[in-house]
Amino acid sequence: MVLGSLLLGLLLGGARVVALPQDSSEEELRDCGEARYYPSMYTCYDGDFLCPILNGEPTLRCGEDCYLPEMYSCSNGELVYPPGSSIATASAISTSTSSSATSVPTCTEEPTTQWLSDPPYENYFYSDCHSASQVVVTSPLEDSNLTIIGPRLLVAWPAGNSGVVGFFSPQNGVNGSLAIRLENGTSTFPLHGAYVEAAADSLSGYPFVGISTLVNFNSSAVLTVPIMGSIRNIRDFTEGPSLVYPVFQDAIEWNETDDGGVLLSRLWLDNVTTTQMSFVPTSGEGSISIQTNDQGNRTLELAAGTYNFTAWFDYPQLTQLNSSEVLNDQSQGLIESQSGQTTSLSFLSYSEKLLAGAWRFLTYFGRDSMIAALLLQPVLSEGEGGAIEAVIAAVLERLNKTSGIVCHEETIGDYATFLNLQDNITGPEALRPGCTYQMVDTDYYLAPLMENYFLKTETGRSRREAFFATNSSLDFGNMGLTYGELALINAEAVVKNSAPFAQSGGQTKDNLIHLEEDQLVGEWRDSTYGIGGGRIPYDVNTGLVPAALRSISALSSAGFFPSHPDWQQTAAAYAQVWEDNTLQFFQITIPIAEAKSLVENYTQTAGHDFPSHADDISADIVFHGLALDGNNNQSIVRVMNTDDCFRLFLTNTTNNEQLTSFLNQSANNILAPFPVGLSNPVGLLVANPAYGDDPVYAANWTNNAYHGTVVWSWQLAMTGAGLQRQLERCSASTPAPAFCQDEVVRGNVRAAYNHLWDLIEANEPYINNEVWSWLYQDGEFTFEPLGALPPPAGLNPTESNVRQLWSLTWLAVTRDESLR
Ligand SMILES: *[C@@H]1O[C@H](CO)[C@@H](O)[C@H](O)[C@H]1NC(C)=O
Ligand SMILES: *[C@@H]1O[C@H](CO)[C@@H](O)[C@H](O)[C@H]1NC(C)=O
Ligand SMILES: *[C@@H]1O[C@H](CO)[C@@H](O)[C@H](O)[C@H]1NC(C)=O
Ligand SMILES: *[C@@H]1O[C@H](CO)[C@@H](O)[C@H](O)[C@H]1NC(C)=O
Ligand SMILES: *[C@@H]1O[C@H](CO)[C@@H](O)[C@H](O)[C@H]1NC(C)=O
Ligand SMILES: *[C@@H]1O[C@H](CO)[C@@H](O)[C@H](O)[C@H]1NC(C)=O
Ligand SMILES: *[C@@H]1O[C@H](CO)[C@@H](O)[C@H](O)[C@H]1NC(C)=O
Ligand SMILES: *[C@@H]1O[C@H](CO)[C@@H](O)[C@H](O)[C@H]1NC(C)=O
Ligand SMILES: *[C@@H]1O[C@H](CO)[C@@H](O)[C@H](O)[C@H]1NC(C)=O
Ligand SMILES: *[C@@H]1O[C@H](CO)[C@@H](O)[C@H](O)[C@H]1NC(C)=O
Ligand SMILES: *[C@@H]1O[C@H](CO)[C@@H](O)[C@H](O)[C@H]1NC(C)=O
Ligand SMILES: *[C@@H]1O[C@H](CO)[C@@H](O)[C@H](O)[C@H]1NC(C)=O
Repeated sequence: MVLGSLLLGLLLGGARVVALPQDSSEEELRDCGEARYYPSMYTCYDGDFLCPILNGEPTLRCGEDCYLPEMYSCSNGELVYPPGSSIATASAISTSTSSSATSVPTCTEEPTTQWLSDPPYENYFYSDCHSASQVVVTSPLEDSNLTIIGPRLLVAWPAGNSGVVGFFSPQNGVNGSLAIRLENGTSTFPLHGAYVEAAADSLSGYPFVGISTLVNFNSSAVLTVPIMGSIRNIRDFTEGPSLVYPVFQDAIEWNETDDGGVLLSRLWLDNVTTTQMSFVPTSGEGSISIQTNDQGNRTLELAAGTYNFTAWFDYPQLTQLNSSEVLNDQSQGLIESQSGQTTSLSFLSYSEKLLAGAWRFLTYFGRDSMIAALLLQPVLSEGEGGAIEAVIAAVLERLNKTSGIVCHEETIGDYATFLNLQDNITGPEALRPGCTYQMVDTDYYLAPLMENYFLKTETGRSRREAFFATNSSLDFGNMGLTYGELALINAEAVVKNSAPFAQSGGQTKDNLIHLEEDQLVGEWRDSTYGIGGGRIPYDVNTGLVPAALRSISALSSAGFFPSHPDWQQTAAAYAQVWEDNTLQFFQITIPIAEAKSLVENYTQTAGHDFPSHADDISADIVFHGLALDGNNNQSIVRVMNTDDCFRLFLTNTTNNEQLTSFLNQSANNILAPFPVGLSNPVGLLVANPAYGDDPVYAANWTNNAYHGTVVWSWQLAMTGAGLQRQLERCSASTPAPAFCQDEVVRGNVRAAYNHLWDLIEANEPYINNEVWSWLYQDGEFTFEPLGALPPPAGLNPTESNVRQLWSLTWLAVTRDESLR
């Protein structure tokens, strides 16, 4: 709990306040975080922050202080004098139904709202000092596939990766006839914060937080399936075979309420947290009833009309970083110039962790947060409580301390309890969060991120000691270890895993980094067709491993890892071996005539009728395969790809002959039109299977596959940033790499950089999407949302996230005009 200090010469000390009023027998103590207080003497803000009431007047919260509005005003969490126009407003106030509340906690800052339309999905974001919510309303369009797209109302919360959803159908049975929309009412935004302090008999002791809104049904509707609790549970339903688990469904209480509405309430498996949603007809409109069929299944029937919908839960909340707090001082201007992106970044940023995407991934993902942080670093806030430390701390908290492996995805909240109970873990242990550790790439992002912050920034250098002395405090199994000890465990794993290949004579395929034996995926292309069944991925071995080793060497030189002073030399020596001796395993060279024939044949097989551009091929085609040891006994997965970006962005290799030819082939493939190269009017395609020499390639890397012939936002950003870094070496390093003096190659790299940026600028409306695809119609490639294409055979359609953390990197990655 936090006790506000008061800038009135009155200091409130003590960790646990039980403030007694004159007539204490009359008044009931309430909970505020871990403290108890009398409402006549204190106001509880944000569920854990007490401010005193002075002479009958409640003081307000401002950041970590309490103040009287006639003495100060509050701006961005800082007290300012004199009290001006920015006095605390009650605009974000709760929809508290607790009439007894003598002190209704208010937020001192305006709520942050955002509306992102992505038909048939409408996305609404709302955050205030109490909580953050995303609401997604799905309403089928005229051309929607009604088997996949049905009316749906979903609320997602970052805290506990929680949410609720209601699936609806039209009472008349005609799919497509029911439309749902949110209404503004008297406001300019449909969502309002919902908040009520924990009741005296609350099981969790936390306030209920969430949203209320007006929802309209154009015709009479049936709520067929509600799911309440974890987003993971909701995703099992939407992405899997529409499974509901009785353990969740049977726990829903269906109650009609006095105001003519219905309240659905579910106690989580932890036996203390409750999620609720309610529909209340608004004056004169609508009516709602609970129906029970022969099997005992319940549904809600709603007449056409507008309802007051509230969804909330009583669970501890995260600490959101507002737009100003997530950006560093130099980048505050982005709040105005890039308000959409900064608002989205803020919604995904908390001092505990950054979240990967909204709505499906409002939770920790190691790779996503570290790639985003590496690219966004120039604009992210530094220091304690800032965005960069949030990312690094979240990774360390979740490290596997036995293996040094970085957590890929956390399992938290109700779903964690669900999984634990299935493993027969009961009692308090059942609430433990968990992690998945199947990715082999994620381990290697941490050291570069640490080097970039703790060595290369002033704040990072000054924070080093305090940060690494921090004790792990989350329940992922690392309590009792410091961040410094955890960082060491990761570095030890990196050095150990990379050692065999670095030994004299050790440069064999067997010594390269492989996927885990029982796993089909292990790096960012983590879908069925991603790396074609390959076991030894290109990105990890040629980019990530050498980058991590260089960073470990640099950190060691600066006094990190004192138990391994030798790393300064050994890690650097290993890095050199990995830099110089890995590309050759993946290189594919195809003579002109064969390349032309392959591209012609692929164009025929692919069947979209786009031109082959085979006549453009005037030199051997060179690229690096996605992985070694692929499906069908392929020794190398012969798919041209954008994964050169890891080496471009994360390494500064020194073998000039190799660097010059590597940069040249990268540039050639960026410049050449698909299917000769990767360039497509909708962006750089992350995969081009034209040179596969086996029809299954054309069948697997398609424009409807997650990692097929599609465009990923962050890959564009990392390629752009990587080319720029290599070109900058021509002026920043002495001696400059040899390619800088080679006018053809340097010109080619520059041309590729500019071509890439021309593509990015031409596709500006889409660049914050996670991934997108194309159609070829009337002689042109045009943008097509990936989710609008039917999925590859045997796979379920995947709904994409309207905002993804690593698709916001354009806040920091911009075109260097001097390279035009
Ligand atoms: C919805 O209901 C809540 C709780 O009763 C109330 O506070 C709020 O004002 C209502 N919202 C609207 C838009 O009617
Ligand atoms: C609609 O989706 C279903 C399920 O994916 C699919 O089988 C069907 O072919 C789709 N219909 C159209 C017209 O695309
Ligand atoms: C109607 O919608 C339901 C629920 O979305 C779906 O299961 C069913 O297949 C649809 N029927 C038709 C004919 O599209
Ligand atoms: C709500 O108000 C905003 C701002 O005035 C407006 O753009 C939006 O269309 C309104 N939404 C509805 C559903 O009326
Ligand atoms: C629902 O109704 C039952 C029976 O009246 C009652 O015991 C229960 O507390 C109610 N649940 C909620 C969440 O109001
Ligand atoms: C309906 O009830 C049956 C039997 O209790 C259950 O197996 C089934 O999952 C329920 N269906 C839904 C949609 O809840
Ligand atoms: C951590 O790694 C070890 C060794 O690989 C493994 O046995 C253990 O199961 C992992 N821990 C978790 C929680 O996955
Ligand atoms: C949990 O206990 C049940 C009943 O004793 C047993 O059938 C099941 O195999 C156990 N599950 C695990 C993962 O141990
Ligand atoms: C919740 O309560 C049920 C019933 O008393 C019990 O079986 C279960 O183990 C409890 N869950 C936890 C996580 O303690
Ligand atoms: C294409 O995918 C299928 C199904 O996953 C697999 O059997 C086949 O080997 C794949 N081909 C390649 C080249 O990856
Ligand atoms: C392209 O297809 C033709 C006709 O099937 C075949 O003869 C030729 O060998 C193929 N070219 C390559 C390079 O596989
Ligand atoms: C490579 O050099 C460029 C230009 O000096 C620099 O911006 C970049 O940070 C360096 N990359 C690494 C991994 O050291």
